Amino acid sequence: MTKPSHIAIIMDGNGRWAKARGLPRAAGHRAGVEALRRTVRAVGEQGVAWLTCYAFSSENWSRPQSEVSDLLGLLKIFIRRDLAELHQNGVRVRVIGDRKGLKSDIRTLLEEAEALTADNDAMILIIAFNYGSRDEIARAAAKIARMAANQEISASQITPETFAAFLDTAGVPDPDLIIRTGGDQRLSNFLLWQAAYAELVFAPCFWPDFTESDLVAAIEEFGGRDRRFGKVAADAVS
Ligand code: IPE
Ligand code: IPE
Ligand code: MG
Repeated sequence: MTKPSHIAIIMDGNGRWAKARGLPRAAGHRAGVEALRRTVRAVGEQGVAWLTCYAFSSENWSRPQSEVSDLLGLLKIFIRRDLAELHQNGVRVRVIGDRKGLKSDIRTLLEEAEALTADNDAMILIIAFNYGSRDEIARAAAKIARMAANQEISASQITPETFAAFLDTAGVPDPDLIIRTGGDQRLSNFLLWQAAYAELVFAPCFWPDFTESDLVAAIEEFGGRDRRFGKVAADAVS
């Protein structure tokens, strides 16, 4: 069975998980961090080299201010508490999203996490924070426009491959499998460029309930998919 080498996860449903238990949404986000810890371990055990997790979208700033600060606080707690263990396990941490829109204390923390783990290669954990694909693509286009104005790049040099090198995910292979928990079937501005040929699996459970067996089930579903990339299936060639 073919295994994905890059899994990306839209960790959705924390608020509804909490509501179903009569708890505040913040409790759902805290439980979501536990699920993230478990999942990073489980993905590593599955031998999958790349994991990208959508933690905070560029649109999530429109939530109530108290929830936004809970989410920013949880990111800090996750990095502070888990970084040593991630590093020990050979996990390289990388962050995608618009850094400029984040306060300097968070930015510094993210940069420290990336610097500390830069030489690790057991697994790469990419955290999408203040991330939105449209913003990412627009920032890439702006960089290219500035280079073109300085005559550092010409229009004829812009291809899908060269363009991709200006995205936050430069050098990262496209996700093979995107899992969204929570029951909704949409991408919510996640990896729109990179997901061109990703297989999508929608898990009905809320993110805090996502387990290793849900992960294995998604990987198995991926293994049964016929990825054609626009070609005809191998057994259809006559
Ligand atoms: C996902 O859970 C976490 C973030 C978006 C940061 P939600 O907070 O979106 O939970 P629901 O979708 O409202 O249940
Ligand atoms: C997507 O979930 C963003 C994250 C999981 C970080 P949302 O809850 O923000 O998405 P919508 O609003 O349901 O599309
Ligand atoms: Mg949601």
